[in-house]
Amino acid sequence: MLNFELYNPVNYVFGKGQTEKLASLIPANAKVLLAYGGGSIFKNGVHAQVTENLKGFEVVEFGGIEPNPRFETLMKAVEIIRNEKITFILAVGGGSVIDGVKFISAAVNYQGDAAEILRKRILFTDVSQVIPFGTVLTLPATGSEMNSGAVVTINATQEKLTLGGSALFPKFSIVDPTVITSLPKKQLQNGVVDAFTHVMEQYLTYTHDALLQDRIAESILQTLIEIGPDVVENPSDYKLASNFVWSATMALNGLIQKGVPSDWATHMIGHELTALYEIDHARTLAIIGPNLYRVMFETKKDKLAQYGKRVWHIEGNSTEEIAEQAIEKTVAFFHTMGMKTKLSENTEDYAKTADFIVNRFEERGWKAMGEKQNITLEKVREIVELSY
Ligand code: NZQ
Ligand code: ZN
Repeated sequence: MLNFELYNPVNYVFGKGQTEKLASLIPANAKVLLAYGGGSIFKNGVHAQVTENLKGFEVVEFGGIEPNPRFETLMKAVEIIRNEKITFILAVGGGSVIDGVKFISAAVNYQGDAAEILRKRILFTDVSQVIPFGTVLTLPATGSEMNSGAVVTINATQEKLTLGGSALFPKFSIVDPTVITSLPKKQLQNGVVDAFTHVMEQYLTYTHDALLQDRIAESILQTLIEIGPDVVENPSDYKLASNFVWSATMALNGLIQKGVPSDWATHMIGHELTALYEIDHARTLAIIGPNLYRVMFETKKDKLAQYGKRVWHIEGNSTEEIAEQAIEKTVAFFHTMGMKTKLSENTEDYAKTADFIVNRFEERGWKAMGEKQNITLEKVREIVELSY
């Protein structure tokens, strides 16, 4: 097992009705920026619940954070915080709102052009330099409620880039599984597939000695396979909803990443598809993931076979055969979850995608990705072209 440090300071407040604790979680006398997205929280009653529990606090509202949050929009919130002397931010929404708030939190005191935070991947480790924030999660998928990473798009250049650092963990996250009842089916499907792929990025590498991490990863995958198709049809079933939400958090709160190699190239390529074509994040992963496993088969086949045996109960003696079947099972699961796994089924305008992505990665110096740093630009091209 590799050496690691496990640091996760998020006060994770889970369950029905937990929004009632909001006032006790925010520092007394805080001046709060309530940040949200396109307005779903007005339709499903979450805004009313939150404001009811914020009585007594001075609150300024900032709405309009878009899915795949935009740098340009977030900078408007940065200005408001500077001008209004806001001391705490409350993110109410899905991954996009929470990620947007992480960026806002980091940018307020950043000296210089805030786009550098993204372009230079500045790490934020000093909590005194960021604005503290908490979250009320409304969409289980990204794990952003319990991690310190974020993804923000610069509209002007169509670049989808990451930021993070130990100072960017939420102070608390309120996670009430009943909020998923108002999610469109498509977003429920996305949530399951995003969480599933988060586990795969950290698990589907090569065989190693971290036995417990593998078992935890496999159990998250199995839980998502067990409940995924049903929760999409019955989001008001609390047993399904609560297990879904907790699985999505556990998939990317850092725990299964400890002491093991990880890949993340599916995400890096997938982010480009969202930047180019606005394909939902999870749907880009369903397009790229299985093709990455195919192209990187030699590197990943042992772990694919372990995954095939333990998660899908595939029997046989040949590592190659089990590994191949495991990929097919994954694709079939994604189809069950409503994904279209070819790029051409998601956009008509895909012919130059591989050129574009390879050029971009080359400019950024991303020439060796994956757990063995052997996903070269040639491999990226192969993966993207196989995905057409
Ligand atoms: O904007 P509103 O009106 O709130 O509507 C949202 C949005 O249209 C809606 N929604 C959210 N909760 C709802 C709801 N509608 C009805 N009822 C509810 N309870 O759903 C739509 C999508 O929301 P969004 O926040 O964009 O989805 P998601 O949580 O999937 O977040 C995706 C973003 O997270 C990034 C992705 O790249 C993408 O930008 N990721 C963040 C990660 C992280 N921070 O660790 C890791 C991930 O791999 C991912 O890259
Ligand atoms: Zn993801």
